Amino acid sequence: MAEHLEMKKTTPQEFLLALVGGLFAPLIAIILIIVYIMGIQGSQLDVGSSEAEDRAIRERIQPFGVALAVDPNAPKVERSGEQVYNEVCASCHGAGALGSPKYKDAAAWGKRIAQGYDTLLTHALKGFNKMPARGGDPDLTDLEVARGVVYMANAAGAKFEAVLKKEPEPTPEILARGQAVYAQDCARCHDTGLTGAQKLTDTAAWDALIKQGKEYLYKAAIEGTLGGPARGGNDKLADADVKAAVDYMVDQAKKAIAATRPAQQTAAR
Ligand code: HEC
Ligand code: HEC
Repeated sequence: MAEHLEMKKTTPQEFLLALVGGLFAPLIAIILIIVYIMGIQGSQLDVGSSEAEDRAIRERIQPFGVALAVDPNAPKVERSGEQVYNEVCASCHGAGALGSPKYKDAAAWGKRIAQGYDTLLTHALKGFNKMPARGGDPDLTDLEVARGVVYMANAAGAKFEAVLKKEPEPTPEILARGQAVYAQDCARCHDTGLTGAQKLTDTAAWDALIKQGKEYLYKAAIEGTLGGPARGGNDKLADADVKAAVDYMVDQAKKAIAATRPAQQTAAR
């Protein structure tokens, strides 16, 4: 009985102490372990992490950081005439370099403006003497080049509007004819990319080719290029057949290009 009574005599203070001890002992152990681990990591971090080295590392990875900040899928926004002029054309036309007509110099532009908008645009797109095609920037779209032309010409007294002549769309009959010619005489290279022929799915290559205009492509296909045989190597093909095949190829390439665009826009969102 006496023993029993003693057990019951545990005071509230004793109870609290036991409780606190029981709770804190593991807690203190955990804290000690954490401190120990952090100590190891801290000493590892300390090894050679001088400020200079830190900066060097940051500079080394910076190009990636910067590149990532520019969304590669962002849809391209076409620039205004003023932007195109400032970013591309001004390097020559600002001061009249290489004999280029100087910006706002009405005398230098007068005779050129008299040639008409179409001629000026063609010269700006395809190049003219020392004037490089697209002002030397192949990334400019036709519309951007047109806006650059209009921006400069209007500053010298013209009243042009930046419009693009639309190439006539081939009829379904021409496309069907072209598809047949293509299958017979062109596919063996242009489906496979043989000897560097631009595959119809190579959107980058065709984007650039389409910019050259149909007239150029017809001529290249009929007369041949460095790697491409005249008439696809089939002398019996009429000009109209070769042109139809080109129409078909451009049509297919445009579809492939269009297919990449909505995807890009979704990705940008
Ligand atoms: C590397 C220098 C250079 C750059 C950059 C340049 N041009 Fe030119 N441009 C010239 C020269 C040189 C001429 C004169 C060519 C001639 O008449 O023989 C010229 C002439 C022109 C003409 C008149 C063509 C004609 O038929 O008389 C137009 C239009 C034109 N440039 C538009 C542009 C546009 C638009 C840009 C920018 C997208 C641009 N240029 C960028 C050098 C340049
Ligand atoms: C024996 C292989 C071969 C055949 C067949 C062929 N091509 Fe090509 N083609 C090429 C190559 C290679 C190029 C790239 C040439 C270059 O880069 O200059 C090319 C380029 C082209 C181009 C772009 C021109 C340029 O500046 O690059 C067009 C348009 C074209 N071919 C049309 C046709 C048509 C139309 C046919 C069928 C009637 C055809 N090709 C058949 C090999 C071929």
